[in-house]
Order: sequence, then C-alpha cells, then structure tokens
Amino acid sequence: MASTEGKVCQSLGCGQPAKLQCPTCIKLKIEGSFFCSQDCFKKNWGSHKAVHKAKIESEPHNPFPNYKFTGPLRPVYPLSPKREVPGEIAKPDYAVTGIPVSEQNVRASSTIKCLNEKEIEGMRKVCKIAREVLDIGAAAIRPGITTDEIDRIVHEATIERGAYPSPLNYYNFPKSVCTSVNEVICHGIPDKRPLQDGDIVNIDVTCYLGGFHGDLNESYLVGNVDEKGQKLVKVARECLQKAIDAVKPGMKYRDFGKIIETHATANGLSVVRTFCGHGINQLFHCAPNVPHYANNKAIGVCKPGHVFTIEPMINEGTWKDVLWDDQWTATTADGKRSAQFEHTLLVTEDGVEILT
Ligand code: MF3
Ligand code: CO
Ligand code: CO
Repeated sequence: MASTEGKVCQSLGCGQPAKLQCPTCIKLKIEGSFFCSQDCFKKNWGSHKAVHKAKIESEPHNPFPNYKFTGPLRPVYPLSPKREVPGEIAKPDYAVTGIPVSEQNVRASSTIKCLNEKEIEGMRKVCKIAREVLDIGAAAIRPGITTDEIDRIVHEATIERGAYPSPLNYYNFPKSVCTSVNEVICHGIPDKRPLQDGDIVNIDVTCYLGGFHGDLNESYLVGNVDEKGQKLVKVARECLQKAIDAVKPGMKYRDFGKIIETHATANGLSVVRTFCGHGINQLFHCAPNVPHYANNKAIGVCKPGHVFTIEPMINEGTWKDVLWDDQWTATTADGKRSAQFEHTLLVTEDGVEILT
C-alpha cells in the first residue's frame, strides 16, 4: 500500500491530512483515493464507487459473471468502440436506426424474387468482394489474435472496397462481422479474447455494395485442432457442398435439409434447427427460408434468378442452441463444438452459380 504520508483527504473542501486509502482502489491498482477518515470515505462512496466500475470495465472481463455458460468459452469485454464507415459509402436502411424497415415490410411474404440480369450482375459484384474480404480476414487467423482484430481487418477491407459491412448495426449488432468460436453456433460478437491453439473459428462476412448484399462464411482451424474437430469442420463443409450440388430449377427448398441431415447424422453429428439459409438481394434476409434439417415445411421451388444462401451449422453433440446474455451469441446447449459453411447461390437455367 502507498503511504498516506503527506497526502490530503480528497473529499471536497476537507483539506485534512489523509489517514486511509480506499482498499478497493488498492486492490484494483487505482492510484490516489486518499481520505482523512471513514466518515469522509463514506460521504464520498456514492460517487467514488464509479471509479471502481470504470476501472473494471476498462480491463478484460466477462460481462456476464452470473450467466450459466454451456461450455468453456467466455466473452472478453470491453468491446472496442463502434467502427466508422465513411460518409460516401452507401448504407442499408438499418445503418442508422438498427431497424431494417425494408426487410420488415416483406417479412410475412413467402414470395421469392427473381433477379434480372442487371441485378444478378450487382450480386456477382458484391459476392466477389465479400469473398475477398473473408479471405483477408481468414489470412489473419493465428493463435493470439483477438476476434476484435479480425473485425477491424474485415471492416477495413470492406470499406476499402467501397462497401458497407452488413452486420454493423443490423438489429443493433455491434460489429462488422460475426466470429463464432468452438461452441458458438453463429452470430458471435468479435471481442478481446485471443484465439487459442486448438480453437475452431467461423468468420461470417456480409458486404453491401451497389444496393446488394453478399453473404458467406467458413470455419477455420486455429493451430492444431484435435481429430474430432477436424472431422466436424470437414463434414460441415461437405454438407454445404452436397446441398449445393442439388440446386437446380425445380428443386424444392424444403428438400435441402434431408441431404444435409443425412450426411451429418451418418457422421454422428447433428444439425442446428433455429437458424436457416435465406434469400438475399437488396435485402440481407428475405424469402425463401431454407432449413438445414430434414422433414421441414419450407415454402418454394428453385427457379432461375433466385438468389439465396445455404449455411448449415453442424454440431458434435445436441442440435439445441442457447443464447448468451448479449442476445446474439448462439451456442450449443451442451457446450460441444459447432462448425458452419455458407455460400450465396444463384439458381441458373440448368443448375447453380456459386456467387461467393
Ligand atoms: N451473416 C449472417 C447470415 O449468414 C447474419 C448475421 S446478422 C448479424 O445470415 F447481425 F449477426 F450480423
Ligand atoms: Co446468411
Ligand atoms: Co452469413
């Protein structure tokens, strides 16, 4: 403890020699906080305790200490400040308000848009840059990098290309990319946790350019991942590829789930049910809804000009998900790992074009 020798009570207007130092401040390594007496200390407690809170919140910490996590992963806050997007970059409607009004206006509709040639060109363009951005983010993966640093890299690569990072402020999502580690199924918020050797991390990039969104994700091995984890990632990739192989005019959107679930269960893995693939165009999420599990009741049939994602989330254990207290991060209910791959797809006259 620093000596109170020569220090003065910090209580406003007191001016007496200090006889004590706030014990919490000593523990938290906050300098100063000298008082002449318990009386002056107590009198100042109401405002002084904010100093402790500010210090705790400025240092790496778990923001939900009382939440019952399903697995070993913990969020590491504080989140970095909101990243800026230059004024000249065109923004989706929710960029300011957090509310995608244009999506909500058609939320109940199961009508699937057929894009014209000009719109398809717009989708090709944004999907190409989304792919570049994902590859740049992925190249930074190494043990020790934080997902927040990956967010910065993705954010900068996106705006460098004149695009807006679609996740940013979508229903108030605080970051420019989703990063989902180990038991996180999807929608992980980039934070200050350094990636560890043996982690599995998914990077889900969506860009908005020329009025269109392009969406893709991949799961990556961080350093040396155990064989079970390697297999999880491999099978998740195969699930997406097998579903893509079935895309052509006439294919029912409800039938992709059978292909995915058959391959997952044949490998002892399960399929997430809460989150689905989706139509994507001038809207981030729209019809069709594309479940990844079998025996679903999805509406619609593939037609040339449809653009949608398939993005199966495959789990080592249960398919059930539990949300963290940030109201975004979806984790497995048993804390076991999950992996995902996503492409944005165009239905062509005789099959499919992978746009991402
Ligand atoms: N990219 C995700 C998807 O594949 C959606 C992320 S929404 C966000 O549909 F708000 F979490 F970013
Ligand atoms: Co998507
Ligand atoms: Co995505």
